[in-house]
Amino acid sequence: MTRKLFVTTALPYANAAFHIGHMMEYIQADIWVRFQRMQRDAGAQRVVHFVGADDTHGTPIMIAAEKEGVTPQEFVAKIAAGRAQYLDGFHIAFDNWYSTDSPENVDLSQGIYRRLRDNGLIYTKTVDRFYDTAKGMFLADRNIKGECPVCHAKDQYGDNCEVCGAAYQPTELINPYSVFTGSTPILKPSEQYFFKLSDPRCFQFLKEWLNTPGRLQPEMVNKVSEWLGENGEKLADWDISRDAPYFGIPIPDAPGKFFYVWLDAPVGYLASLKNYFEKQGIDYEAFLNDPSAEQVHFIGKDIVSFHLLFWPAMLNFSGHPIIDKLKVNVHGHLTVNNEKMSKSRGTGISPLRYLQLGMNPEWLRYYLAFKLNARVEDLDFTGEDFVARVNSDLIGKYVNIASRCAGFIAKKFDGKLASTLSDDAKQWISRALNGENGERQAAIAANFESREFGKALREIMEVADVANRYVDENKPWILAKDESKTAELHDVCTTALILFRQLTIMLSPVLPHVAARVREFLGDDAYSWEDTQGERVYAPLLGRTIGAYSHLMQRVDAKMVEDLFDKPAPAAIAAPAAVEAAAAPAAEASDIEELAPEISIDDFAKIDLRVAKIVNCEHVEGAGKLLRLTLDVGEGRYRNVFSGIKSAYQPEQLIGKLTVLVANLAPRKMKFGVSEGMVLCASAKDEKANPGLYLLEPVSGAQPGMRIR
Ligand code: 2FM
Ligand code: ZN
Repeated sequence: MTRKLFVTTALPYANAAFHIGHMMEYIQADIWVRFQRMQRDAGAQRVVHFVGADDTHGTPIMIAAEKEGVTPQEFVAKIAAGRAQYLDGFHIAFDNWYSTDSPENVDLSQGIYRRLRDNGLIYTKTVDRFYDTAKGMFLADRNIKGECPVCHAKDQYGDNCEVCGAAYQPTELINPYSVFTGSTPILKPSEQYFFKLSDPRCFQFLKEWLNTPGRLQPEMVNKVSEWLGENGEKLADWDISRDAPYFGIPIPDAPGKFFYVWLDAPVGYLASLKNYFEKQGIDYEAFLNDPSAEQVHFIGKDIVSFHLLFWPAMLNFSGHPIIDKLKVNVHGHLTVNNEKMSKSRGTGISPLRYLQLGMNPEWLRYYLAFKLNARVEDLDFTGEDFVARVNSDLIGKYVNIASRCAGFIAKKFDGKLASTLSDDAKQWISRALNGENGERQAAIAANFESREFGKALREIMEVADVANRYVDENKPWILAKDESKTAELHDVCTTALILFRQLTIMLSPVLPHVAARVREFLGDDAYSWEDTQGERVYAPLLGRTIGAYSHLMQRVDAKMVEDLFDKPAPAAIAAPAAVEAAAAPAAEASDIEELAPEISIDDFAKIDLRVAKIVNCEHVEGAGKLLRLTLDVGEGRYRNVFSGIKSAYQPEQLIGKLTVLVANLAPRKMKFGVSEGMVLCASAKDEKANPGLYLLEPVSGAQPGMRIR
């Protein structure tokens, strides 16, 4: 039977460029999709529709657009325009990339909502929500900060405390304030729309859905079962509405109310599919009702509740039969050197910089695939490990086979491969492909199917090891020196290239670009998985004249990997006494600004430097260089400070950070308002040649208002 697969990755928020974690998920899904697409033989054929989209709605995007002085649509369009360079750059073969801000998504989301409502699963209730009167809008949990009701840490978000980890309602915060204006929000009643997840029908359905074998990873079944409770008593209703102003989809028959972004985000999967099908002339409704259609999501572990509670319930109770074939594959997070990625610690990796450095995207595809498995485990990127893995496997084992043998075929046999193989050669091929127990090939396919990519690649590298051993033992470079051994040389090099071709076919979900080049070199058509079976292993190459071999892949240069990491923000480091003078960092005298004339301690004491907390930061309309900072200096009021750091920071990077303020500087009246002090930045002597600006940040623990002396 032909399996019809509808595959997606989580839809990224359209408020930032992709980071390496996004690429990991896309690479994982892309490998699986490419493997499926290689299953072409009658009886096992798979048709795959692989779609993505930008997740565009919600408050953060609305606010970000407002700060840039553009409409949310313009803001999102700019982000969307930057997607292709990443996707193409890493060979991610989505069939369609769309947007949740689309007519299809409006129709589908409103349609699903209406059916849920008709099914008695929607109700309204008036609840008190925080409202910023200065800004004229209701505040999302993350737009409110205040003192944690549990540990009393200051400046914690409205949903949970980053210091003690407590989760709470925003109304529980002590001294709450709006992150937009710093004002104290008021509680204002608002009618909200709820999805009735506590309905016994939802529990019955979810319990059965979760426990259907083969649908979810066992650890996910356990986790979600806990969320359900024994009898569904833990399932809470879900507030799916937000009040205007909100960038989102209007709720039908509810003026001024919009769907919460997480309601329409997963519907965006369907919207992208529908949009793609319209372009392809495929019947969308027929597909969703087709018993051979399957829906497969790849997502990260942080968004499980949306995908394993709300989304299946929405699909089921709005009458989507494909729910019976819904699978959700959850992966862990990508860490770097076993730490969460962080720009300031120099452990962030920009996928774009990776490409700009000229690094081969297939190195990363291979490395990540090697580390991926089917469990919900974090995986770690380590520079040294990356260099070692890629150089050892891809260059030392795989490419090496072709580079050791292809030249002899060109030079000695005019590019023509042998027409028959010796029995010894056949035995080596069979041993390499089948392994000790005769099950290697089946295991490789099964591992790709079940997303155990690391296991699949280990098995494939065992094939490469046997192939290399074969070449080592038969030494074509010695055979080539002896005219009487020409037939043997032909046999050995043909055999090695047959194995090389097999390796290429099995690696092609991971290395699609290399595989395309090998196909050209060997004169093959598109590979299918059945090319690893029976006669198709040998027959196509025997007696064939192949093309010229050109080197397929360079080694990774460790220096490149160093350049890949974000540089940590420079900090002034006093050399420990034990450091020899000779080891002191060399500085070009001309790079360093001359010291200012000496001052006395009394001179310095005149400057009152204080620790300041940036409670808000925003663009200043009409000012090319300035950001407006709202600072808490422990004075019981906020200060307004303009700073010329727009070229170096996005406002949201600074909100919540501590910095240093010259607090007794005379207030300065500027075109945009009064600036009450100055924040401190480091910069190079020649700012034109070296334009970086680095805002000073005290080591954590300092409190707003502390004096710096
Ligand atoms: O967490 C996120 O980045 C969300 N934008 C994922 C949405 S997935 C789907 F539901 F759209
Ligand atoms: Zn706390």
